[in-house]
Amino acid sequence: MIGIAVLGFGVVGSGVARLISENAEHIREKTGKEIRIKRILDLREFPDSPFASLLCHDIEEILTDPEIAIVCEVIGGCRAAYDFTRRALLAGKSVVTSNKELVATHGTELLCLAEEMGVHYLFEGSVGGGIPVLHPLSSDLALANDILRIDGILNGTTNYILTRMKEDGMSFADALRGAQERGYAEADPSADIEGKDVCRKICILGALAFGAAVPCDRIPTVGITEVTLSDIENAERLGCSVKLIGSAEKDPQGRMVLCVRPCFVRHENPLAGITDVFNGVLIRGNFVGDVMFYGRGAGSDPTASAVAADAIRIAAGIAEPVHPWRDAPQEKIGDPQSIPSLFCVTVSTENAALAERFFGRPDRLLPSAGKVTLLLREKIDRAELNRRIAAASSAFSVSSVYEVL
Ligand code: HSE
Repeated sequence: MIGIAVLGFGVVGSGVARLISENAEHIREKTGKEIRIKRILDLREFPDSPFASLLCHDIEEILTDPEIAIVCEVIGGCRAAYDFTRRALLAGKSVVTSNKELVATHGTELLCLAEEMGVHYLFEGSVGGGIPVLHPLSSDLALANDILRIDGILNGTTNYILTRMKEDGMSFADALRGAQERGYAEADPSADIEGKDVCRKICILGALAFGAAVPCDRIPTVGITEVTLSDIENAERLGCSVKLIGSAEKDPQGRMVLCVRPCFVRHENPLAGITDVFNGVLIRGNFVGDVMFYGRGAGSDPTASAVAADAIRIAAGIAEPVHPWRDAPQEKIGDPQSIPSLFCVTVSTENAALAERFFGRPDRLLPSAGKVTLLLREKIDRAELNRRIAAASSAFSVSSVYEVL
């Protein structure tokens, strides 16, 4: 028997416990191993849970139990989760997690520690919920290909909110409440709506693709709190959908460029059709071309699937270690502002000729009450865009700017 401990009996932890127990026979048939949840650590009591007898409150009970070989850390955050993960690795136990904040912040150190101790630190559930994307990226695509670019819808909560706003005209607050009721949102949903959750996930994808982690505070991040129903309508009229996108690419000097921001995504881009809690990750390799991963990006059962699969691979002896990445050196971090992009700009004048004087002849032009929206014709970098916005400020103001993918 291979014992598993679950740290944190919340949305994901309860899903992991249910999966391992309900699919026990299936797992035994597939792997020839008996895998059992032996302990669940949480500060709370759950007297009505079928797992109540496994609850404990002291991590030492888990660390000193020789039957527990694998620890599923699904507490979240960087405080207790960091301490418990280090201690579990030092005690010679493998750790699997969905904790993107911990992986993005301390992944370099924890991967090195796992390597030193000869155990695993796996985190498939940290990006894309139930989508297996990290393992195919690190063990396949990034081995054979130079990864040129990654664009992802990486947060179920915000994609759910944007979808409900667009399809039902729902208010931002009501849509957020719906995401919380479905167990998609973080304990503090500001991490979702302000883009920090996507920032952590694109940091992890970038680290696996490029072998070095850009610290989250070096990833320019804008969330969806400023997205309005009128932006969503404008996007639709231009054949686009508003999506919160995390991107990672290399600039011509080979520096890693990562950012998070709401974009107008053209309907021909496969990311545009991804709705509700679903996530999608589009990875471009220099030989394979575009590869798309799609599935449920949040919620108890999908995330439990990814976390449990890591644990089962370790138990079955078929897990491949994730090679430690390094922290990206300063000179290897590029500036997203310097990458030329297409932009869509809404300005507070109905005078299209005046707007064109500053932004050039647009590809598409959308008049609306007191405003005009211009889909610019040529790619420019942010610095140039900001120069044009500053030059136009004597004539009119700019009410919104979206990058177009
Ligand atoms: N709050 C996250 C989301 C959970 O909505 O995507 C999954 O990481």
